[in-house]
Amino acid sequence: MKILVTGGAGFIGSNFINYWLNKYPHDQIINLDKLTYAGNLENLNAVKDNPNYSFIQGDIADIKLLDSILPGVSLVIHFAAESHVDRSIIGPAIFIQTNVLGTQVLLDACLKHKIGHFHHVSTDEVFGALSLDSEVKFSEITPYNPRSPYSASKAASDHLVRSYGITFGLKYTITNCSNNFGPYQYPEKFLPLMITNLLQDKKVPVYGDGLYVRDWLYVEDHCQAIDLVVHSGKIGETYCIGGMTEDINNLQITKKVLAIMGKDESYIQFVEDRPGHDRRYAVDWTKAKNELGYKPVYDFDNYLVKTVNWYRENEKWWRKLIGQTNNF
Ligand SMILES: NC(=O)c1ccc[n+]([C@@H]2O[C@H](COP(=O)([O-])OP(=O)(O)OC[C@H]3O[C@@H](n4cnc5c(N)ncnc54)[C@H](O)[C@@H]3O)[C@@H](O)[C@H]2O)c1
Repeated sequence: MKILVTGGAGFIGSNFINYWLNKYPHDQIINLDKLTYAGNLENLNAVKDNPNYSFIQGDIADIKLLDSILPGVSLVIHFAAESHVDRSIIGPAIFIQTNVLGTQVLLDACLKHKIGHFHHVSTDEVFGALSLDSEVKFSEITPYNPRSPYSASKAASDHLVRSYGITFGLKYTITNCSNNFGPYQYPEKFLPLMITNLLQDKKVPVYGDGLYVRDWLYVEDHCQAIDLVVHSGKIGETYCIGGMTEDINNLQITKKVLAIMGKDESYIQFVEDRPGHDRRYAVDWTKAKNELGYKPVYDFDNYLVKTVNWYRENEKWWRKLIGQTNNF
């Protein structure tokens, strides 16, 4: 099978390519990535010489380029996006450009080239925020209520994908997943920022009161979920993918990381809250469990330790990126 992966040099996309070529060595993967600040070909060192892997630097909104790549492709897995909420607050335009218009160009090209399956990778943030005192979780029937330019652009892309299915017969699936963590995550995001700050003996910024709840998903569990959806999911369906069964807030996670890294709580620095900060996300992944046999296998506490160790052992990887992070 020939697969086009978009955004395969980013955090999840690169983990996915490494996962897929390891599990399905006979498949062919083309990685189309623009190499924005978030794209890093070093994430793909393990596969760069694999004859079944090729890399093309380019934009998902480049129709001519897509026309040259898509013939012979049977599956498209669409990760490419602007993905950082804080950046979307400072400059929303590129989020609309890439996540909305870029997705629309890619969808048109997939229709034109009669792609057999388009899988769209999205986020639980499209559903908005849950309150701390509720036990409600996001599921496939939760109404959309995005509250940041990032989540609004991802919501728009989800709507576009579904509309192309209904209007033009595009064969698609969608996953809306929770916060991923693991190796190769750019050090501007919550966990790698905290870990790399502590490795430099710096304080860790915690927004507001720190009582923000996220559902954490180890990146390989996410890859496994996409694998299940691509192989056994129903065309035209959406699957919510989460990794936790109990709530945990950012302050509790910060304290866990401090303990793993042998630091005390004086390293916590509460900073001014992010505007429109969503209080709680929690994902109900019952549909994926019942229909596809999905179950997260990577325990949060163990894989938090493994993630800390990965950043400890790969200082060269993140050191290069730190300057860029502080300058955006
Ligand atoms: N990271 C998470 O916790 C999380 C959670 C839920 C959903 N998602 C979604 O998963 C996908 C991947 O997220 P990530 O964390 O790996 O993001 P990332 O920011 O690490 O990587 C994005 C990749 O897309 C590439 N890219 C950006 N614009 C492009 C364009 N116009 N054309 C081609 N390539 C382009 C970048 O160069 C980069 O390699 C995104 O769609 C994101 O919305 C992420």
